[in-house]
Amino acid sequence: MTPTGNDGFVVFDHVQKSYDGQTLVVKDLNLSIGKGEFLTMLGPSGSGKTTCLMMLAGFETATHGEIRLAGRNINDVPPHKRGIGMVFQNYALFPHMTVGENLAFPLEVRGMSKAERESRIMRALDMVQMGRFRNRRPAQLSGGQQQRIALARALVFNPQLVLMDEPLGALDKQLREHMQYEIKSLHDNLGITVVYVTHDQGEALTMSDRIAVFNDGRIQQLAPPAVLYEKPENSFVAGFIGENNKLPGRIEKLDGTRAEVRLANGELIDATAVNIREVGQQTLVSIRPERVEFKPDLMPTGTHTIDAEVRDVIYMGDILRARMKVAGSDDFVMKFRNTLGQTRLEPGQHIRIGWNPQDARALDPV
Ligand SMILES: Nc1ncnc2c1ncn2[C@@H]1O[C@H](COP(=O)(O)OP(=O)(O)OP(=O)(O)O)[C@@H](O)[C@H]1O
Ligand SMILES: [Mg+2]
Repeated sequence: MTPTGNDGFVVFDHVQKSYDGQTLVVKDLNLSIGKGEFLTMLGPSGSGKTTCLMMLAGFETATHGEIRLAGRNINDVPPHKRGIGMVFQNYALFPHMTVGENLAFPLEVRGMSKAERESRIMRALDMVQMGRFRNRRPAQLSGGQQQRIALARALVFNPQLVLMDEPLGALDKQLREHMQYEIKSLHDNLGITVVYVTHDQGEALTMSDRIAVFNDGRIQQLAPPAVLYEKPENSFVAGFIGENNKLPGRIEKLDGTRAEVRLANGELIDATAVNIREVGQQTLVSIRPERVEFKPDLMPTGTHTIDAEVRDVIYMGDILRARMKVAGSDDFVMKFRNTLGQTRLEPGQHIRIGWNPQDARALDPV
């Protein structure tokens, strides 16, 4: 979809970026972000996420194309006039200022009166439950507390749009999860638009309204978390989000979205054709480990069943993860709940496993 006119609060319209005048690190980006949306840019290192955020913030200029905010082209608007709040992993607080002074800074820049500043600072500190820390300096705070102050500073001037680039990258797992929750509830309560950058897929899945998966300067797929997880559009997304089995094969028959795939060991299976063009094409059939059942007799008709040889079973507490040999593939994984009376699987054991052909997605071979 190519955004036109005022269809989004934030619009990237055919945006390209090159730093050296040769390689494009952002390639023809078209993205329309709704008002109040929580949109996450997710992707591997070097895929262009920060570059996109920097162009939106105004610290980098697009080599080609247009960026619009609330319907207005902002290509030539300097950063401080865009009214955007920012939290970056390395966008540190001013060390020589107290928490209160750090928060006052963006308000002073905007020429706000002292009384107005006071009430805004108190409100922003309350939002992140840091009111008591107003007179401390950053060095006297923990990492998580500093990150909260950075968040309060980004929100203190009531921006409509907040950009966050790996804001929780430096925090430990527990604090990270807590801050994810806080950021999400601030978003929900304030109705602000958030553009969030991470390479942590778990973080992206739990926080976002929609996720744009980046690779090599392009959006590979743009979708809500559940769609991205359940219906990856290509092998890159299937491999990047969660775990996926990939069975190589060749398209033998194609009828709309139904494909028959000849697997490496000669077996023929039904699959959903996703980005397949023609018969004869190589494909990777992707199947989520948790969509595979090892009691196919109990599954509905239409279930595809196939032989598997158990290689090993890893105990993970609430779930068990079994690695099998399936259709010539050595590292086929299935996951199942560790329930009472669960059948024990032993290495070397031959079993029948099954899946719904709709959960087998024939994708590009990479
Ligand atoms: N200031 C710069 N000058 C030259 N090249 C740059 C500059 N900033 C980034 N790049 C290059 O642009 C590409 C995209 O970088 P970017 O920082 O946008 O990636 P990213 O997706 O944010 O990665 P990460 O997850 O590691 O933060 C990379 O190849 C990077 O080396
Ligand atoms: Mg980055």
